Amino acid sequence: MPTPRILSGIKPTGKPHIGNYFGMMRPAIEWQDRGEAFYFIADYHALTTVRDPAALRENSRGVALDFLACGLDPAKAVLFRQSDVPQVTELAWILTCMTPMPMLENCHAYKDYLGKDKTIYHGLFAYPVLMAADILLYDSNIVPVGRDQKQHVEVTRDLAAAMNRQYGSILIVPEASILPELATIPGLDGRKMSKSYENTIELFLEEKALRKKIMGIITDSTPVEAAKDPAGSAIVSLYRLFASEADVKRMENDFQAGGIGYGDFKKRLFGAIWEYFAPMRERRAELAADPGAVDRVLGDGARRAESVANPVMERVRGAVGLRA
Ligand code: ADP
Ligand code: TRP
Repeated sequence: MPTPRILSGIKPTGKPHIGNYFGMMRPAIEWQDRGEAFYFIADYHALTTVRDPAALRENSRGVALDFLACGLDPAKAVLFRQSDVPQVTELAWILTCMTPMPMLENCHAYKDYLGKDKTIYHGLFAYPVLMAADILLYDSNIVPVGRDQKQHVEVTRDLAAAMNRQYGSILIVPEASILPELATIPGLDGRKMSKSYENTIELFLEEKALRKKIMGIITDSTPVEAAKDPAGSAIVSLYRLFASEADVKRMENDFQAGGIGYGDFKKRLFGAIWEYFAPMRERRAELAADPGAVDRVLGDGARRAESVANPVMERVRGAVGLRA
């Protein structure tokens, strides 16, 4: 089997959090050793919600910095900014012309907005088509994402198949790769950790800010002496991501035994998170000290991404009857 091409993207809508890390960044970093990996900062996608140009620019660079600090190796993986290869918007238009409206009406990102008293923008509605273009423009085979993105990869597969039926085999039909056991990381309030719920724990908070966040995890009012239920506790679920099996067992036992308050468990969780990210924090500080470092990686990534995208775009234009 030829080397698979792996592709994934992350929106620069804020600072990366623990949900992003376990759901997307860490698996993506693991994949960089198993094929030709392409990862991008999805700034066109972020425009669906971010209207502050300075914030968008800063977040894009910030996400790249965090990704590199966490172990993305530019010698192995291509890291680029989506908008540095604007050909993707052309492919998105071509795909849009093959997209039945009900396919998008069915997508959860849009459905979740229905019934709320908010303007729904076309960008949000059409977002899965741009995501399909992201994937198809690079002849991707494997797309590592969190479970919430599975539906979008299904849309991508349907669109690629529709294009291939209409125009001959011009696009590769990709597959999603989802880590089942880490499917959904809970946030501070026990719901899915997500920027939109404001319940996130960012990866590189200052010590004090991280401590404050962890201490703010919402718990029930079980008194210190009473036994507590570890199942369904956000503290235990998060701890499991960072601590050894023995330490998790100990926490579960201590929950059930009673006599220890939630504050103590939160302190243990804080310690585990702080330690886990220590080497990455160090690497991040080194990178941040070299102001051109991130831009150099992104510039080089854009060139490498474009060299893959251009022939695919030529193939598609030729097939549908544009130019060539
Ligand atoms: P957010 O919901 O905070 O806006 P994004 O939509 O930018 O996060 O998600 C970026 C990537 O991280 C996606 O692949 C997504 O599946 C993954 N991800 C985000 N939150 C979680 C979570 N709580 N658990 C697992 N994966 C997550
Ligand atoms: N939609 C993804 C998210 O919300 C980000 C994304 C955009 C993406 N394009 C992609 C992920 C292509 C994988 C492949 O996180």
